[in-house]
Amino acid sequence: MSDTIYSYFNGEIVPLADAKISILTHAFNYGTACFEGIRGYWNPEDEQLYLFRLREHFERLLGSTKILGFKLPHTVDELCTITRDLVRKNGFREDIYLRPTCYISAEVIGVKLNDLPVGFCMYSLPFGAYIDIEKGLKVGVSSWKRIDDNMIPARAKVAGAYVNSAFAKSEALLNGFDEAIMLTSEGHVSEGSAENVFMLAGGKLITPPVNENVLVGITRNTVMRIARENFDLEIVERVIDRTELYTCDELFLCGTGAQIAPVSSVDHRPVGEGGVGPFSKKLQQYYFDVVRGKVDKFKEWCTAVY
Ligand SMILES: Cc1ncc(COP(=O)(O)O)c(C=O)c1O
Repeated sequence: MSDTIYSYFNGEIVPLADAKISILTHAFNYGTACFEGIRGYWNPEDEQLYLFRLREHFERLLGSTKILGFKLPHTVDELCTITRDLVRKNGFREDIYLRPTCYISAEVIGVKLNDLPVGFCMYSLPFGAYIDIEKGLKVGVSSWKRIDDNMIPARAKVAGAYVNSAFAKSEALLNGFDEAIMLTSEGHVSEGSAENVFMLAGGKLITPPVNENVLVGITRNTVMRIARENFDLEIVERVIDRTELYTCDELFLCGTGAQIAPVSSVDHRPVGEGGVGPFSKKLQQYYFDVVRGKVDKFKEWCTAVY
């Protein structure tokens, strides 16, 4: 690894310390940016760093920019190339996190999305666990409702929308929980502060559909593929009531940051026997093999850096 950490800013790779924006920047003042969170996993046997589902992340970024009406200044192919160049320049030989952001770079006062210049930047840092995924999370259902599609669409990963997540997460932490699950305005289960939700009930794996104000997670898709193809489980996308969380057999959150995070209790009620459920444990182990490029049939999801 090089001594200096590099980032991508204004069309070039520069030291992270030089990648600075003004306090006048529109995105800083109004949250007018969209971003991605991508992980890279070091595989010591292969001496290789694998970027997990890189293309899918940039395709979703493209979707977020379309929703916001931004013109993303790069194609998905270009973004994949920029990313590999950046990670190579940093020379990382460990697990990493990548944060590409597309933002309104204008230094003007006034809230709007159209006819303003859009910039693109990305940083890349060494990164381990985001939340404790070993012992099972204590989760609380939040009093903060998930933002609705015609407020700030959750399917776009909009920077400003994360204040909604931050309200829910802080409330959970201050109340002694590890994480929050938010409900929709109608009172259905939506998602965690930065994770999708799955429950195992009646031998089926159930998750809220994409129109329940969730970010359509790439890990969510990964879990659905693995559960169907490897564990022969039926996947059901349907509306989930709050109290189904209290009676299901297993519950877990998933996301790029959280990975597979089993839930041991919801609103002080144990999930199943409490602790980490057997399916969640098996899924977690398999997921780690997949992301480190150890499973041939899912190797196409892993982009080698070196
Ligand atoms: C609100 C929200 N939901 C779900 C997810 C999970 O998405 P993914 O699996 O694509 O990381 C994230 C993570 O970025 C998120 O921020």
